[in-house]
Formats: sequence, C-alpha cells, structure tokens
Amino acid sequence: MTHAAITGVGAFLPERIVTNDDLATMVETSDEWIRTRTGIRERRFVSEGETTSDLGAGAALAALADAGLEPSDIDLLVVGTSSPDMIMPSTACLVQAKIGLTCPAFDVMAACTSFIYAIHTATTAIESGRARRVLVIGADALTRLVDFSDRRTCVLFGDGAGAFVLEASEGPGVLGIDLGSDGSRPEVLQVAAGGATMPASIQTVEDGLHFLSMNGQEVFKFAVRTIPATTKKALAASDLSIDDLTWLIPHQANQRILDTVADRLKLPHERVFSNIELLGNTSAASIPLAVNDLYTSGNLRQGDVLALVGFGAGLTWGAAIVRWTKEDL
Ligand code: COA
Repeated sequence: MTHAAITGVGAFLPERIVTNDDLATMVETSDEWIRTRTGIRERRFVSEGETTSDLGAGAALAALADAGLEPSDIDLLVVGTSSPDMIMPSTACLVQAKIGLTCPAFDVMAACTSFIYAIHTATTAIESGRARRVLVIGADALTRLVDFSDRRTCVLFGDGAGAFVLEASEGPGVLGIDLGSDGSRPEVLQVAAGGATMPASIQTVEDGLHFLSMNGQEVFKFAVRTIPATTKKALAASDLSIDDLTWLIPHQANQRILDTVADRLKLPHERVFSNIELLGNTSAASIPLAVNDLYTSGNLRQGDVLALVGFGAGLTWGAAIVRWTKEDL
C-alpha cells in the first residue's frame, strides 16, 4: 500500500507583534487577565494589505525548500482556512499564483480544524494513487474578522501560516485519522454575515455581524471533551495507544484547554506541545506552526509518534496520528 509521509515543513508569521499590554489600550483588559485565563502573552497581526494568501505562500515556499522540491513537483494544493482573502476565488488559487504552482488548488473550510481536514484530503489522494506530492497549508488572518471592541474574543487570536509537503512513500507517514462534525450549533462560534444568508448591508455592518462571535464557555467544554475522544479514536485506528505518543500537538486555543486535556488523557504536561504564549490562536495555522517549532528546535526524532488534534467552529474536530519519518535537521 502507498502511504503519505511528511517530507517538508514550513512556517510564516507576520512581523507585527501585539502584546497583551497593546490590547489593553484598545479594550478593558489586562496582561494578567489574558495570561491567567488563556496563557497568551503576545501574538502576530497581519499589517494593512497583508493577506491570508501572503502568509500561506510564505509557509508553502518554506515547506517546499525543506522538502527540496520545486513548485512544478507538486500535483495538488489544499489550503485550510476560514479567513479567505475573499469569498471567491479560493485562497488556494491566490497562493498558487503567488508561488508559481500549476496543479489543481482548492480550499478546505473547517475553521480551526481545517488543517486536519486538509491532511485527510491529501492523505486520501496519495493513498489512492491520485496524487504523489501534495502541498497542504493552514493559513489564517482571523484578526481581520475580530471585533476590537469585544474583549471576549479580540485577545485570543493571532495570524500566521504553516505548511506540510506530503509525499507518497512505502511506509507511513500518516497513520489513522478521525474526523467529526456537528452542525447543529453553528451559533457557538460563527461569522454570521457576508455569506448568502446575510449578504453585506448597512444594517449587517451596523449590527457588527461581520465579526467573529463566540460563546467561549461552550467552546471550552466542547474542546476538553472532544480532544481526548478524537485522539483516542485516531490512535485506535492506528493500532496505537496513548502510551505510544511522543507528542500530543493540539490546536492552540487556550493553555487551560491544553492542561485539562493533558490531565484527562493522563499525559505528562510536557508531552502536550504549546507555543500559545507567543502566537495566540492562529486557527488553521496553529498545528503546522507547532510542528514547525518542534522540528526546527530539534525536538522531533525519526520514529516519534505525533497526534495532531484540531477543533473549532462547525462544530468540527479531528485527529491525525503521524509517525515522524524526516531526518533530523
Ligand atoms: N479581559 C478582562 N475581562 C474579560 C475579558 C478580557 N479579555 N474577557 C472576558 N472578561 C470578563 C467577562 O466579561 C466576565 O466578566 P463578568 O463576570 O463581570 O461578566 C469574566 O471575565 C469571566 O468571563 P468568562 O467568559 O466566564 O471567562 P472564562 O473563564 O470562560 O474565559 C475564555 C473566557 C474565552 C478565555 C474561555 O472561555 C475560553 O478560552 N474558551 C474557549 C475559546 C476558544 O478556544 N475559542 C477558539 C476555538 S477554535
């Protein structure tokens, strides 16, 4: 059987750093509140004119260089995002033009779970023989959708992009994947206006309906229930158990979520990766950015078993178990 293996990893972050103290000049909040409730100290914001496809293109070029490939070597591009540059064309097409790809390109929208869904798509394409080299990007600029007068949401998010090159290989690679969605409660986390249900109007703008709205406590409860469950299912699909995990790499939404998940899975906290302190919640980018951090800091070894686990609006969730096959940097 043909498997999909990660052969390239890349990241791209906007330059602008925004600290908790910076945010405290915009809304009634404090560095202490944000750090104790979320673990976040600072995050990156796109600058005026910088877009999700710019971030994605930067991460893609880094992943291609890491894999030692040219754009012409890639035969499928999948971009996971929920802050597309525009409703159409897809962000994938815009990235494609920026980096000189010629292959089919499309977006996957599963909010903060987008990267796991995109990995599933890429793995399926490779395992079925429909593609041999797939570029997968998680890119988001959610700070463009956030209401900077709403302290409940504006302190949480940051911008960035991460990318993997997945290639056909004899051994895995990507092992088991578990995906799920429950569309019965879209209001828990949504951007209500700007689509076909509520096209942009003066009223929707006046009502702030183009901003991201969230029931934080519901998301928290959903996350701490879902991450352990989907991780266990993906491990079972890989014939592995929690004890086999080298790293749990969850979507970086809140340090308290990560700590609760570690306790519920009885995993030592140091095996649950976190970089939320410096990046905040970068949505679809957070998992590949986390893997890139571990990889570039020399903390991944051949044979390590990683659980990449996402959750987000939809509601959606998913986990991919990966055996790390790249040589050390
Ligand atoms: N600064 C200061 N006070 C704030 C604040 C901020 N940035 N945001 C909210 N508060 C206040 C609230 O107004 C509330 O005040 P009140 O008691 O006077 O009404 C108080 O803090 C507690 O609010 P609450 O919403 O109960 O806080 P919380 O402990 O649930 O923490 C979140 C809020 C958002 C940090 C937390 O719910 C969370 O992380 N949820 C998950 C969100 C997430 O992961 N989203 C992305 C998913 S992909």
